[in-house]
Amino acid sequence: MLKVTKHQSILVKEVIEALKPVSGETYLDATFGGGGHTRAILEASAPDGKVVALDRDSSTEEFAAGLKEEFGERFDYRAISYIEMSKLGVKFDGIMFDLGLSADQLEASGRGFSFQKKDEPLDLRFDDSHGQTAAEFLRQSPLNELERVFRDYAEDRYWKALARKIMELRRITPVRTVRDFITQVGNENPKVLAPLFQGLRIEVNDELGGLKRGLAAASESLKPGGRLAVITFHSLEDRIVKEFMRNGEFELINKKPISPSEEEVRSNPRSRSAKLRAGRRI
Ligand SMILES: C[S@@+](CC[C@H](N)C(=O)[O-])C[C@H]1O[C@@H](n2cnc3c(N)ncnc32)[C@H](O)[C@@H]1O
Repeated sequence: MLKVTKHQSILVKEVIEALKPVSGETYLDATFGGGGHTRAILEASAPDGKVVALDRDSSTEEFAAGLKEEFGERFDYRAISYIEMSKLGVKFDGIMFDLGLSADQLEASGRGFSFQKKDEPLDLRFDDSHGQTAAEFLRQSPLNELERVFRDYAEDRYWKALARKIMELRRITPVRTVRDFITQVGNENPKVLAPLFQGLRIEVNDELGGLKRGLAAASESLKPGGRLAVITFHSLEDRIVKEFMRNGEFELINKKPISPSEEEVRSNPRSRSAKLRAGRRI
C-alpha cells in the first residue's frame, strides 16, 4: 500500500510561476517532504521534464514510491541532504527549497516535533541516524550553549533565566520526552513553546548553517539563467535567503517576497508565516 502524505504544500502556484517549468528541462526539489511541489513541477513540465528530489529524512522515501510509479524515469529521489547536491553532478534549470518541517514529521514521526505529543522522545532531528538529539543537547550542553539557542534561535525574552532553570532542574530530572521539557519550561502557552521547539530544532539540525551551504551549492548547480525559488517560515531563514539573493549572482524574479493569499492562509493556517523569494542565476 502506498502511503499518502498529510502535508498540504504551500505556495504551489506561486512556486510554479517562479520556476516556469518546461518540458525537456531538469529541476531539483531540495526538500521533497510529501512530494507536493515535486508533483506540481512534474505536471507543469509534462511530457518530458525531470525532477530530482532530495530529503534528509529518509522516511520520506515512502512518498517517493508513489511518484516513481506514476512518473517513472522523469522522477528520481535521493535520501540525502541538499548540502550534498553537487555530488549528483547535474546542472539544473530550476531548484526549489521549501524549508521547515512537514505535517508528516509534525504529526506522525514520533520524534517530538509537536509539543502536543508529550510522550514522544524530544529528538527533533530530521535525520535520526546520527547527531545529537534535542534532549541530549538539553542534558549535556553548558550554560552558554543553552543561552545561545534560547536567545538567538528561539528569541525567547527570558533566555537567560530559562537556561539557568534547565541547568538547575536537569540535575534532578534530565529531559528525555516532550513532557519533561515542557515541565521544565513551566509554561504551556503555544506562543512560548513553538519558538522554543523551533530553536532546538534549528540547533540540532544546524538549519541555518545548512541553509547557507545549501544555497551556495544551489548557485553552483544551476545553469546560467536557471531559477531558484525558496520558501522560508521565519525571519532567521528569510534573512539568509534575502542576503544570498543579493550576492550579485542572481537577478530577482520578484522584488518583494511573495506571501500566501488570505484564502490559502484560511485553508492552511500553517502557511501563515511563509515567504517565497525567487531569482534567476546570472
Ligand atoms: C516543509 S517540508 C517540504 C514539503 C514539500 N515541499 C511538500 O510539498 O510536501 C521540508 C522538508 O525538508 C526536509 N529537509 C530539512 N533539511 C533538509 C536538508 N538539509 N536536506 C534535504 N532535506 C531537508 C525535511 O526533512 C522536510 O521533509
